[in-house]
Amino acid sequence: MKYCYIHTFGCQMNVRDSQQVADLMEKEGYLVTDDLKAADLVIVNTCSVREKAEQKAHSLIGRVRRLKAAKPELVVGVMGCLAQQWGKRFFDRSPHLDFVCGTHSSDRIPDMVRKVRENGGNLEDTVLREHPGSFNLRVPSSPGSVAAYVTIRQGRDNYCAYCIVPFVRGREKSRLPGDIVDEVAGLAVRGVKEVTLLGQNVNSYGNTLDNKVDFPALLKLVGAVEGIERVRFTTSHPKDLSESLMDSFVEIDALCEHIHLPLQSGSDYILKRMKRVYTSEEYLEKIRGLRRRVPSISITTDIIVGFPGESDSDFEKTIDLMEKVRFDNAFSFKYSHRPGTAAESYDGEVEESVKSRRLAILQKLQAEHTLEKNRAMEGGEQEVLVEGISKGSRDDVSGRTRSNKIVNFSGESILAGRLVPVKIVRGYAHSLRGEMLQGGVKE
Ligand code: SAH
Ligand code: F3S
Repeated sequence: MKYCYIHTFGCQMNVRDSQQVADLMEKEGYLVTDDLKAADLVIVNTCSVREKAEQKAHSLIGRVRRLKAAKPELVVGVMGCLAQQWGKRFFDRSPHLDFVCGTHSSDRIPDMVRKVRENGGNLEDTVLREHPGSFNLRVPSSPGSVAAYVTIRQGRDNYCAYCIVPFVRGREKSRLPGDIVDEVAGLAVRGVKEVTLLGQNVNSYGNTLDNKVDFPALLKLVGAVEGIERVRFTTSHPKDLSESLMDSFVEIDALCEHIHLPLQSGSDYILKRMKRVYTSEEYLEKIRGLRRRVPSISITTDIIVGFPGESDSDFEKTIDLMEKVRFDNAFSFKYSHRPGTAAESYDGEVEESVKSRRLAILQKLQAEHTLEKNRAMEGGEQEVLVEGISKGSRDDVSGRTRSNKIVNFSGESILAGRLVPVKIVRGYAHSLRGEMLQGGVKE
């Protein structure tokens, strides 16, 4: 028996790509393992969105070098965004690598592994294809898994000035609605209750298709698939958050009351420099539109501090906007230079110490807001989709609310995959504590 170890950095797109590759390797007779040392094949799925993500990948690849020294037959490959970006240069930096596989070629990994085993290493495939084979690969959910990712768009058309993603994922393309619905139906048959539709900018779904199924129409189709109780999507660009998409939160029962809407900055000057094409007021107007329709909607965001040219007063504007919106959660990052992006040549670099200070201020404020939001849920009832035994305690199960918050409550593993009514008894910084209400468990 051969063992395959896959480590994933980066976003849900990468998580899904890794699932696909794990499945392909299982078909090749490999067993997926969490034990790096036991592996005969190591694949590092990389992210290049920030320098830190890049360093983490390099450091894991470095560790694998020692393993390979002790076990020369070990096959080691990289995939994902950093692999796409670096191509053959990866072999210069890490000569122990056997293959480098770009973002459009992950379906070819079994083939690459076979070739490496037969003829030795140094294979590279980082072609960005018109019709990537990896695009339509389906992910069979592992038995017992209740939530799955489904890609609806690959690549990205928006060129935000800081972002490397369009360069490493290719131009944006939409999958056909029929293919998506088929995949979702297949997942539902295998017990999946929740799907998250993935794309770099899901709202402009359909723009590249001849038949005009737009994103709200696609949501309706997916929400109507029998057995699918919950639909989520990520990520949305505020500029494309249309009235009709906002209406979907009211009209489509399965669509969960949560949206991830990256803000990036609260300063109009910085937003313009970032090429985000909306103003802080337009962003606020979208938030109002969402809350008018669904007052309890959970809103999360991404924010970058220290973008070139960001002054103290620009940063204050971000803080002001956070105070106005009061996000349920925010992922915040220090700006990181990315090769080839427009912002690389911008002046007004912000000192590292200033970035760190701003990030700390922002994160402290967000922690207060998150706690406030979680506390406000105390005493209320929530529908929880149970994922399994809680990480913290064997006596608890863990699941998510429709608003995507983690709830732990006393219960047994038999509840996994079920929708359970839970009373929230305590809101914490990162999760909620609940008590299961009697009756009403949905199979
Ligand atoms: N997969 C994501 C895109 C990844 S970027 C999507 O679907 O949108 C995730 C977040 O990282 C972005 O919203 C932005 O806040 C941050 N980010 C992107 N490029 C960055 C950079 N150069 N420096 C710091 N943060 C960055
Ligand atoms: Fe990273 Fe690529 Fe996702 S750069 S965030 S893995 S699209």
